[in-house]
Parts: sequence; C-alpha cells; structure tokens
Amino acid sequence: MERLGSKDEVRQAVGEARREGKRVALVPTMGALHDGHLSLVEAARERSDLVVISVFVNPTQFGPGEDFEAYPRDLQRDMDLLYAEGVDIVFTPTPEVMYAPDAQVTVDPGLLGSVLEGASRPKHFAGVCTVVAKLFSIVGPDLAFFGEKDFQQLGIVKRMVLDLDLPVKVVGCPTVRECDGLAMSSRNAYLSGDEREAATVLYRALCRAEKLALGREGDARVLQEAMREVIDAESLAEVDYAIVADETTLQPLERLGAGRARALVAVRIGSTRLIDNLALEVV
Ligand code: PAF
Repeated sequence: MERLGSKDEVRQAVGEARREGKRVALVPTMGALHDGHLSLVEAARERSDLVVISVFVNPTQFGPGEDFEAYPRDLQRDMDLLYAEGVDIVFTPTPEVMYAPDAQVTVDPGLLGSVLEGASRPKHFAGVCTVVAKLFSIVGPDLAFFGEKDFQQLGIVKRMVLDLDLPVKVVGCPTVRECDGLAMSSRNAYLSGDEREAATVLYRALCRAEKLALGREGDARVLQEAMREVIDAESLAEVDYAIVADETTLQPLERLGAGRARALVAVRIGSTRLIDNLALEVV
C-alpha cells in the first residue's frame, strides 16, 4: 500500500495502472474510518483492480461554527485498517495541496443541494461537489463508491456526474448499522453514554415510518408525524427534519405510491447532529 500526498504522484500511479489495463476505483473519505467505510472499500475491491482511498477532512464543506476543527482524525489507525483491507493507494492531501489560496470556482449543486441538509448547512454541498469533482479529476476513477447513509450527498454526486458528463460510475452502498440500528458515522464518536443510547431514536423513527408504509398507510404527513412523535419522546433529542421525500428529487411527498419514497431524518442529540434514512417499500 502506498501513501501519496501530491496530485502528481496520484496521477502517475493511477496512469501506470491504467496502462496495464487495470480498472480503478475511488472511495472518498474524511478518515476516522469505521465499518461503513470498510464496506465501501470491500465493494470497491470486488469491482476493480486498483483501489484508491482519499482521506481528507475537506474544510470547504464545513460552515462557520461547525465541527471542522473537532472532526476526529487518526491517520495511523486509518492506515492500519486500509492496509488490512488490501487497499493499493491512500491519497492524503493537505488543504494547501487541494486548494489554491486564490481558488474561486466551485460546483453549484443546484436545487438538490438547497433542501434538507442544504437548508441547514447552506454551502455544504457546494463544498462536497467541488472536492469530489477535484478528486475525480485527480484520480480519474472508473468507479466511485459512496454510502447511502448520506443519501442526499449520493444523489447530488450522481446528478453532478450526469450534468457535467464526468466519466465515472457512482456506486451507492447500503448503510452499515450498529446492532441497535444506529447508522455508523464518524460523528458517533462525539456522543456521551446517554447520548449514544438516545441516538437510536433516528432508526426507531425511521422504522416506525417503514412499518406504517408496509401497513398501507399512504399519507406522507401521517408518517412524518409518527416519526416526530418517536423523536419528541426522547428527551435528549431535538428534531431538525423528519420527512418523506421522492428518492430522486428529494422533494416532500404528499402520498406514497408514485415513485420511490425515502424517509429522512436529521436530529440533534446534545450538540451532535446526526442524519439517517430508509427506503419506504409500498406493498
Ligand atoms: O462523505 C464524506 O465523508 C465526504 O462528504 C466526502 C464525500 C469524502 C467529501 O469530502
């Protein structure tokens, strides 16, 4: 496994692999790796000959007062995990390597970037799209792997690839959960013992919506209210949104049935903001 810090080194290493006819996969991460990330690495390894992982806490996707400084960082642990997974290249640029001091051009995520997470975190998806577009340009992967836990991010990256004709296939992978249903996230490390228990409320709320949908409740407002009720019953939790939306447009639905639906929640547990989502099957 090679750790590379410069764009040129990555381009050269990937270029050599390409000349040998290898299929290249990229898994973009911000480090603080957990089993969710490792499931993306495994999916990437199964479908490619050269696996590149980027580890970069991207400053441009954090807003003022958000957790950029506090975001967990443990590169040695990440490297050990990636080595054990048989990764080929770990790209670990600094912000100075990624961004020119006078950088000006960014990728506008459009309407999809203004709802849900985008409404609470106004420049977040412009930062995500810009860094992901840059990683695609530096690495030039055939395939790129993202988790469904960040469902809106996955949809926006797919849309960016479509709208900007980027030559990469984006692959979404299922959310990996703890035994009690909590979606794995690097931010779970912020939770105290009590908060960790309370954090199961996100999955419990989503399961409530899923159960109603399976029981043929078609009114999205009923599902939304039911999710809020579950979250409101948890004293350490404060709901940001609990919504049933169209999977593609992420616009709120009035009724289930037309198109695929997704329940999405964002909840503050103490000072930690967590998100999760679940597909709603209509039978
Ligand atoms: O999901 C993440 O960890 C980040 O948003 C990503 C895709 C690595 C871009 O910085």
